[in-house]
Amino acid sequence: MIEYRNLRIALLGAGSVGAQVADQILNHGEELAARIGAGIELIGVAVRDPKAKRDTAIPANLLTTDADKLVREADIVIELMGGIEPARTLLLAAINSGADIVTANKALLANHGPEIFDAAAQVGAQIYYEAAVAGAIPIIRPLRESLAGDRVTRILGIVNGTTNYILDRMDTLGDSMEASLKTAQELGYAEADPTADVEGFDAAQKASILASLAFHTHVPVEGVYREGITKVTAEQVLAARKAGYVVKLLAICERVTDSAGVEGVSARVYPAMVPLTHPLAAVHGANNAVFVEADAAGPLMFYGAGAGGLQTSSAVLGDLVSAARRHVVGGPGVAESTHANMPILPVASIRTRYHISLEVTDAPGVLADIASLFAKHGVSVESVEQKTSGEGAAATATLVIGTHEATEADLAATVDALAGSPAVERVVGVLRVEGL
Ligand code: NDP
Ligand code: HSE
Repeated sequence: MIEYRNLRIALLGAGSVGAQVADQILNHGEELAARIGAGIELIGVAVRDPKAKRDTAIPANLLTTDADKLVREADIVIELMGGIEPARTLLLAAINSGADIVTANKALLANHGPEIFDAAAQVGAQIYYEAAVAGAIPIIRPLRESLAGDRVTRILGIVNGTTNYILDRMDTLGDSMEASLKTAQELGYAEADPTADVEGFDAAQKASILASLAFHTHVPVEGVYREGITKVTAEQVLAARKAGYVVKLLAICERVTDSAGVEGVSARVYPAMVPLTHPLAAVHGANNAVFVEADAAGPLMFYGAGAGGLQTSSAVLGDLVSAARRHVVGGPGVAESTHANMPILPVASIRTRYHISLEVTDAPGVLADIASLFAKHGVSVESVEQKTSGEGAAATATLVIGTHEATEADLAATVDALAGSPAVERVVGVLRVEGL
């Protein structure tokens, strides 16, 4: 067997994930080397503050603030800094000096994926990013490799642990959105500024990555329709459960043919009602799961920890082993597949079912008026649940109206008409039904 020289590994970042990755390379390097077929050497760890306390012991002589110099000396660069800059510039420099890349940086890939992938394709470098979506769960490699011969039709993903934790508490304990978010912050799931999670930005970045891979089409993050969970009320979650559903923030990536017969990709993130019988309904706490439907394989579910330093390090180290094996074998990396280049369809062309919650005056003719607005916009009513409170002229009712499948455009027009109707006091909210 040919003896290969030690591969030089540069690590950018030693925070939650980076510190665990450094620990594994430093303490289990021989085992990794046996799997790779070549030795590995951690040549440096770039950080902002070399004196900061770390989660694991990293020798002081490895820590550096000169990330630029470090990446130019490496065979493989593992980027675990996060954010766009300086990560973007450092990775481009690393690619151009001959390194393969491992990154967990969903923000960078969702916003600058084509630039990074093109730079890699120019020089035959490979980009590995298993940890960028759903932490420890293997989902990138299954989409990129295992399912490369199949035709993926739809992905429904719970890809944000913080929002799943919040919605799960609302469902199982009846907590309010505010109380659940506070607990998520106390437990360290949600950041002090929770916007990226609760407004769906994090999930939209992951949806952009998943949709691009699954449909061989670049889906920019701007092409992902996004709604967060902040408007979901405890009453909506309770009503959903009574109707046989649980509310989940879903990243949905779908192959869709619109009413004009155009086949395209739809990528969207919003809170949706999932039937209690669907496997995603059983995903509790901060866990993630990605449910993939493909023509030949049928339904597949990938489930586990979507975050956590140690858990995420598993995906990063798997990528390191793959990158190192490829480096040993040599030859150009496999470029990202965007050959299908399908159009990105607007959310207005999507067809699904809806549950609309309304507060109305409880008086004769109100239900008929409301039903006529649905009929006028071509939206067919499937179910009506009514809860009344108060008496006489002060009586009000909460209505939850379930619809058959309708387009987003028709539903939006119906909701506008409801909001302007004297029969309706307030449109409480709309939840889509997915996973049927
Ligand atoms: P942290 O914020 O915990 O760590 C970031 C690290 O990068 C720190 O060590 C920091 O140095 C270093 N760093 C940041 N900016 C610079 C800079 N300009 N120059 C040098 N070093 C810098 O991040 P995480 O470990 O949580 O996340 C890393 C990546 O992994 C992100 O892309 C994230 O999205 C992704 N990810 C994280 C998961 C998780 O559970 N945490 C799950 C899945 C993916 P210093 O310590 O000195 O400040
Ligand atoms: N904030 C993310 C989550 C971490 O809650 O899932 C992983 O990207």
